Amino acid sequence: MNNSTGSYVLEKTGFEKDNEELLINETLFHNANGYQGVRGNFEEGYPEGYDTIRGQYINGFYNSYKISTEEWHIGFIQEKHSMVNVFDTQSVKIWIEGEELDLFTGNVTEYRRTLDMKKGITSRSFVWESPAGRKVSVRIERMASFEMLPLFLIRYRICPLNFSGTVKMESVQSGDVYNYFNQKDSRVAGEKRIHMRVKDVEADGTTGILVSETVRSGLEAACAVSHVFSGPVSQTLVCDEKSITDRIEFGAEEGKWSCAEKYSILCDSLRYADVKEEALRLLDLAVEKGSGYWYGKQEEFLEKFWEGCAIEISGDEELNLSLHFSQYGLLQSAGLDGVSNIGAKGLSGEGYEGHYFWDTEMYMLPFFSLTQPEVARKLLGYRYHILDQARENAVKMGHPKGALFPWRTINGKECSYYYPSGGAQYHIIGDITYGIIQYYLITGDWDYIVEQGAEIVMETARIWYDLGNFYKGKFHIHDVTGPDEYTCVVNNNYYTNLTAKHNLIWAAKLYEKLKEKGQLEKLQDKIGITESEITGFKTAAEAMYLPYDEELDINPQDDSFLSKKVWDMASIPEGAGPLMQRNFLYHIYRYQVCKQADTVLAHFLFEDEQELSTIRNSFEYYEKITTHDSSLSRCIFSIIAAKLGEKEKAYQYFDFSSKTDINNSQKNTKDGIHTANMGGTYMAVVYGFLGLRVKEGGFFFRPILPDEWNGIRLDLCLRGSRIEINADRDQCRFSLKKGDPVEIHVYDEVYELSDEITVEMRG
Ligand code: BGC
Repeated sequence: MNNSTGSYVLEKTGFEKDNEELLINETLFHNANGYQGVRGNFEEGYPEGYDTIRGQYINGFYNSYKISTEEWHIGFIQEKHSMVNVFDTQSVKIWIEGEELDLFTGNVTEYRRTLDMKKGITSRSFVWESPAGRKVSVRIERMASFEMLPLFLIRYRICPLNFSGTVKMESVQSGDVYNYFNQKDSRVAGEKRIHMRVKDVEADGTTGILVSETVRSGLEAACAVSHVFSGPVSQTLVCDEKSITDRIEFGAEEGKWSCAEKYSILCDSLRYADVKEEALRLLDLAVEKGSGYWYGKQEEFLEKFWEGCAIEISGDEELNLSLHFSQYGLLQSAGLDGVSNIGAKGLSGEGYEGHYFWDTEMYMLPFFSLTQPEVARKLLGYRYHILDQARENAVKMGHPKGALFPWRTINGKECSYYYPSGGAQYHIIGDITYGIIQYYLITGDWDYIVEQGAEIVMETARIWYDLGNFYKGKFHIHDVTGPDEYTCVVNNNYYTNLTAKHNLIWAAKLYEKLKEKGQLEKLQDKIGITESEITGFKTAAEAMYLPYDEELDINPQDDSFLSKKVWDMASIPEGAGPLMQRNFLYHIYRYQVCKQADTVLAHFLFEDEQELSTIRNSFEYYEKITTHDSSLSRCIFSIIAAKLGEKEKAYQYFDFSSKTDINNSQKNTKDGIHTANMGGTYMAVVYGFLGLRVKEGGFFFRPILPDEWNGIRLDLCLRGSRIEINADRDQCRFSLKKGDPVEIHVYDEVYELSDEITVEMRG
């Protein structure tokens, strides 16, 4: 298969017979709009023996199930919550003159799949010659509408090439669906569970409606389906207990295209009071407006999206495609309704069960904060929505007050069963605060801080203060896990302690600022924060212990890290897959080996905490012992390599990271896209090559250009003003496109950007 070079169209040609390739393409060519996601399965299905993941999901829509375990301890979760495969509305089977269209028989030519990121549609087209020699040309387009989120539209077109005859179509909507599982892989582990029960099946004229409920979590969803045809058809709807089949028949003429449009509406009880009524109402509206209207709206929406965030690298179209694919992936995955967020795999697959992690604030939020701040604010709104549950979780985990956000969640409750690399990752609360503060510094949105942000920052600061302890004048944080999941439950993880310090400092700062502005009272009434707590926060932050090794001039990952054996990296076979899938986890923990950037990530977020020489030494030290088994890693190494002026290395890490899904580099794209990595790819451009850091003192740029590129152009939204950055080998131009002048620092010189400035490139 070939990838096309058009930078907004991902294209693959050549019929994909291979099971693994089918799985990957189901992910790459999925349709999603932040609310619902549909994997790119074949409408007509697959022959016996193929194992693919047929799925349609609603963001945040989950079922719960009890975890059965022999040994249970207080604080360990007893229930899990998974995003469910909710319905199947993508099935369409075809018979031409009695022969079933099955690409695995007969002959397939001109096969092509595309994802058009400007039109917002995927397509699959081919010419099929049946075993009896009948030839048809088929073109199927699919769209998850950004304008009407519950709408998923399939436009199925067929043209006989060497005959005229009868075409039969069976278009199915089914509630008989299951989630995929694979017990050998922790990312999609589980067992075959029934998550949904169909409770209502109804065909009314030419409209089919199904209502299902989750078996334990008490949620409901409805799907309503209707078709529109280009010519006369005969049509019968047949219901059984769990599905509705629309049997359609029409005459097709040689050389003439016939078209069937399948409108599906999915509504769920997290967002709608009466799911059935709402699905039917929206279906009427969707059909009445017609597909042309929805296609047009889709393009309009995307035009605006790209206008605000497009990046163009001159000299590398392949890279542009992967960058656009990353940005589009983030857009498709972002739940903006307050009850959902961005899953680790977006809405493209079942990996990580649709759960939300620190990934959002640390990896995906920067893209939105820097290009579409209104979207960033909505994403942050989710944390506020689950703040009460975070308070309950804190108490459960032994903290008398404060808010401890769950490590992974879909409904606000902790969902990680394996505590050492789950709930022990306390840094998530520091990460959420970091995301909030970066959003505030980028946008200047003080209202958000007053309404939601300050409360979260103070409640999380309370956890750090309770978690740590003063010992010999220093504040220590024990028994936590940092980002590196190959080193668990340790004392004084450097990254964690720095995020805690930042959290405590900002809680105090916001407190003082609110007080100064006379805006503290409401918050004080609500959470009872006191002056003496604030004093405690400041003292703990000042006294925060940060591990440092003088001899090596590096920051050890934690107190015990350097005393461990070093894993023999040369012994890891090429392409062997993640260490954790081949070794007992506690065995890994006893070694110096990292799954992902940890201290190196801290050096990026808090670069002023250490000398440049220490950052360099740390980078070189950890580089040798990091497997990058997590896709969240290479982008961060790229950013620090760029900071250190190591252009080639920065480029190599970035190149790998940006093509993770397109190249299936982590070997698990079948389970879904890697949304954090997609955000990380964007970060590697902006924080890496443009060298942007957002600090209290303003916006600081240090652009460098990899030798492989001729130039780069992109837009950012800083403090509500839109600026364009245009760098080539010699110069970097900053132009104010819209809004008030913005102060920026480039290579440590300060400029008031009111029109345009040009700076000589130094790297
Ligand atoms: C990483 C975590 C990440 C999670 C979800 C894991 O493999 O180690 O840092 O949050 O994946 O993306």
